[in-house]
Formats: sequence, C-alpha cells, structure tokens
Amino acid sequence: MSETVKVIIEGKEVELPVITGSEGEKALDISKLRGQTGYITLDHGFVNTGSCKSKITYLNGEEGILMYRGYPIEQLAEKSTFLEVAYLLIYGELPTKTQFEEFVNIITHHTMIHEDLKRLYDGFRKDSHPMAILSSMICTLSGYYAESMEPTNPRHQEISIHRLMAKTPTIAAYSFKKSIGQPFIYPNNSLSYVGNFLNMMFSVPTEKYEVDPVVEHALDLLLILHADHEQNCSASTVRLVGSSHANIYVSVASGINALWGPLHGGANQAVIEMLKQIHEEGGNVEKFVEKAKDKTSGFRLMGFGHRVYKNFDPRAVIIKKAADDVLNKLKIDDPLLDIAKKLEEIALSDEYFLEKKLYPNVDFYSGIIYKALRIPIEMFTVMFALGRMPGWIAQWKEMIEDNETKIGRPRQIFTGAVKRDFISIDKR
Ligand code: ACO
Repeated sequence: MSETVKVIIEGKEVELPVITGSEGEKALDISKLRGQTGYITLDHGFVNTGSCKSKITYLNGEEGILMYRGYPIEQLAEKSTFLEVAYLLIYGELPTKTQFEEFVNIITHHTMIHEDLKRLYDGFRKDSHPMAILSSMICTLSGYYAESMEPTNPRHQEISIHRLMAKTPTIAAYSFKKSIGQPFIYPNNSLSYVGNFLNMMFSVPTEKYEVDPVVEHALDLLLILHADHEQNCSASTVRLVGSSHANIYVSVASGINALWGPLHGGANQAVIEMLKQIHEEGGNVEKFVEKAKDKTSGFRLMGFGHRVYKNFDPRAVIIKKAADDVLNKLKIDDPLLDIAKKLEEIALSDEYFLEKKLYPNVDFYSGIIYKALRIPIEMFTVMFALGRMPGWIAQWKEMIEDNETKIGRPRQIFTGAVKRDFISIDKR
C-alpha cells in the first residue's frame, strides 16, 4: 500500500500520493490537485516545489551534503578530474578506462570553432561582458549545426553534447581575447582540457607559454565543484526551455543567461568587487557587516547565504582550503583574502548571520582563487559556466529522456483587474 496524505479542501477530502526519494526525502504529488479540487499551490521562488525526479545530484542543505550520482563531492574533488566528473554527470556512471579515453579523445577533437563563428566576435563592443558573448555564441551554435540537433535523436544528442563540452572553453577564451584586443589562439590538442583553456586565455603568438600545473590543478578543482547543483535557477531554466523541445544549444544558452545574475553565478564577481571596495575604504569589515544587517541599506554580503544550504556549503569548505594552498604555492599575498577571512570570522560570530543561517557559499572564495590564477573579474561567471556545462547537459538529457516530462507551464493566481468595459481614448 503506497503512502498517501489526506488534505481537506472545502470539506472535501483528497488523497495525495507521497513520493519518496532514494535518500528518504518526501514529496506530495499534487499533479492531480487542481483537477480534483480546483485549487493550485502557490510557491514563490519554488522554495517548496519539486519540478522533476532526478538521479543526478543529491544535496542536503541542512547537513551540508553534496553528491554527484552518489559520489560525495569531497571524494570527487580529491580523486577525480573535471572531464571524468563530466562523464559521470552526463552518463550516470564513472567511465571505464576505455570509455574515458574515448570521451577525452572526442572532446579534444571538437575544440575548434567554425571560422565564420569567429567573425561574429567582431560585432561585439570591446567592453561587452564575456557572459553576453558566451551566451550569444552558444546560442549561435544552433545556427551552425542545424542539421544535427533534433532533441530526441540519440545520435544528435551525443554530437551536440560533445560540441558543447569541447567548444565552450574555446568560445570563453576568445571572449577574453576579444576584450583585451589580442589574437585568438587556436586550441592545442596536446594539452589537457583545462591546460588548453589556459593556453587559449594566456598565450600569445609571440611567446612560449607553459601551463603551470598548480594553476591547472586548481582550475580543474573549481570546475568539479561547480559542475552541478541540482534544480538551481540556471539548471531549472535549461530544463524549462528544453521542455518545449527547443534545441540543446539554446536551452543551455538560456541557462548561461540565468547564471549571469548576481544572486546566482554572478555573485563570484560581486564578491571580489565587494572585497575591493572594503579594501579601498580602509578595510573596515565591521562597517560592511553592519550595513548588510541594515535592511534599509539594500546591501547584502555577497557570497553569504544560500537558498538550500542552511548549515554550510560543502564546496565552500573545499574552496577555502584550496584558496590557501593556491596562494601559498603561487606565493601570492592578496589583501583581499585577509579581508575575506576577517569578514567570514565576524559574520559567523554575529547573531544576525547565525540566526538566519547565512554561511559563506561556493562563490565567497572562488573569486579569490580565480584572481590568483590571473583570471580577470569579468570572466569569473564565465568560469562558473565552464564548470556548470556538464551539469546543464546532464539535466537537459535527463529531462528529454524522461517519459514524465511535460512542457513546463506553471499556473498563477491572478490579482489584476476583474472584467471591465473598454473606454475609448477620448473618454479616459
Ligand atoms: N547578507 C545579508 N542578509 C542576507 C543575505 C546576505 N548575503 N542573504 C540573505 N539575507 C537575509 C535576507 O535579508 C532575509 O532576511 P529576512 O528574513 O529578515 O527578510 C533572510 O536572510 C533570508 O534571505 P532570502 O533572500 O529570503 O533567502 P533566499 O534563499 O531567497 O536567497 C540568496 C538566497 C539569493 C543566495 C541570498 O542569500 C543572497 O542574496 N546572497 C547574496 C548573493 C550570493 O552570494 N549569491 C550566490 C548564491 S550561490 C550560487 O548561486 C552559486
């Protein structure tokens, strides 16, 4: 006998099925509620609404747990690589040696972008935000591969997935080169995924560039930590757009746009800008903490708080340690790291932040590492997008292959004017 919950609406008893996840989490299936009662549910920001069943990522915000396909993020961060994690997220299992070699090989051999696509960069202003360029370019891929993007065709899916994984670093690096007026560097297939990205970002045709293994490793780690985070704003956007059977490129491009916002992926840029401001104004951390507590100021501590983590963000713990390691190894003395640590210390002993369970999130320390790796601030959210790509792909693939998927189409409670008669303009 499957579990149900009884709800009484206007004296009428309705039985709602209970859905139980593999980690024991529970949901009421309300899909027939409107049909049975005429009622819908209202849930601003979907804080209490599950939009799908998913096997990809499990997170428990109360206990600070994050697992990709059952593997704890701490283990993946320590023992895996970004491409292996990408394979895991997209295909559901860790690859065998042969599967992994094939995957790496195919991703490596799709890294170039069409020469015509390169010319599109000429149309952007020099100071265009690289997120605007990234989303436009990913969207434009649908114009280049129109013959092979039928969402439900497995072969088309596969090739589109390879193209997205392979070409995103090239597109991202070119958006940086565009902003500084340097020549675009072709991908180099002898380098690793991350090594190739760094080479396209930082090498110039006139000089030899050696990929620093410390930088390469740190970036690979950051990409792993950003690879997926279940039904967040951008992943939900990808699923919603894809649910109309729009192609994968435009679905993912929509996710990139959602990520850009400062309440989501854009927070990593906002954190560094905030730390810089604190530094420039004399390093008075307490003043900024007080300002964040004052609702009338409209100011929030960027990098603090999370919709689901109400204990700690496990990624922030790993990143904090990585930030220390990277700065030590690269012998960088960054006053912003000291400010960040002080800010964390003060905020975490302050009643306001404790009571509201506001802890540093993944973005609080990632910007400091990116800065140490010489990645410019405007590129921070692009780095997040690079890491999140396999997550978006996995979410899109699961959505399109799920028989239960319907086009996403929420309801509303209408609070506007009730019916009234039109008044001609001369009588208004
Ligand atoms: N600084 C000060 N106060 C905060 C902060 C903050 N960073 N975050 C939340 N609060 C307060 C709110 O004012 C609110 O107070 P109230 O209950 O008295 O009204 C309470 O804490 C709850 O905040 P909400 O905005 O309702 O929480 P929500 O879950 O909707 O938002 C969010 C989460 C958007 C991350 C929020 O904490 C925030 O704006 N943080 C700063 C931006 C940031 O770091 N974003 C990155 C998120 S992680 C990611 O996308 C990878």
